[in-house]
Amino acid sequence: MRIVRTIADLRALLRPLRAEGKRIGFVPTMGFLHEGHGTLIRQSAARCDATIVSIFLNPTQFGPGEDLASYPRDLEKDQNLCLEAGAGVLFLPEVSEIYPTGFQTHVEPGRLAEPLCGRFRPGHFRGVATVVAKLFNMVQPDLAFFGQKDFQQTVVIRRMARDLNMPVDIVVVPTVREADGLALSSRNAYLDEDARRRALCISQGLLAAKAAFDAGEHAAPRLIEIARDLLAGVDSIQYLELVDTQNLEPLTGQVDRTAALCAAAYVGRTRLIDNVLLAPSAADSGLVLNGNHPNA
Ligand code: PAF
Repeated sequence: MRIVRTIADLRALLRPLRAEGKRIGFVPTMGFLHEGHGTLIRQSAARCDATIVSIFLNPTQFGPGEDLASYPRDLEKDQNLCLEAGAGVLFLPEVSEIYPTGFQTHVEPGRLAEPLCGRFRPGHFRGVATVVAKLFNMVQPDLAFFGQKDFQQTVVIRRMARDLNMPVDIVVVPTVREADGLALSSRNAYLDEDARRRALCISQGLLAAKAAFDAGEHAAPRLIEIARDLLAGVDSIQYLELVDTQNLEPLTGQVDRTAALCAAAYVGRTRLIDNVLLAPSAADSGLVLNGNHPNA
């Protein structure tokens, strides 16, 4: 696995691969990798000739008072995970490489960035869309892999790729969970034993609602109620919403199309997000979004 820190070195490494017609897969991350990232890298390695992983803690997607300064890091562990999962190139840029002096151009996502996390993290998706667009321009991947846990992020990025004619397929990979259901997240590192136990309420609530949906309960208010009852163990629920997976608009009646039940909650000072997909037909489950590239 090659490690590069500059855009020039990255481009020099990728140029011959592209010239040979190799299929390039890309997994953008912010580091402190876990098995969720491992799964994305493995999926890319299985489907592409070369897999590029970036680790870049992107300051522009953090708001004032958020955890940019304390975000966990372990570069040595990350490198080992990338290597074992099959990455060929690890891109580790400094902030000045991505945002050089004078930087002033951003990608402004539209309505999809407004509900759910967007309501509580103003500017977050602008920062995500901007850095992902920049990384796409640097790597020029054929496929880019994202985890379903950041569901709204996947919807915003898919829209951006379509709207800006980026020739990349966005592949969304189902959330990886601990044996007891807790969604893997770099921020789980903030949880002590008691907080982790309470954090489990989030996945328990969402998975209970999904089980009820699969058993035939399709009334949105009832599904939300089932999840809310179990989420009672967290310190505060920031949002718990059932939304249309295409436009992220709230569903209030019977769920008759693929929906996402999304939650953000605080356990102590740790903010965690999770979601489940409710698909009326089996054909809608599995990889959520796969292919926005016109040639896909
Ligand atoms: O999901 C993340 O880790 C980040 O939002 C991403 C996509 C790497 C952009 O900084």
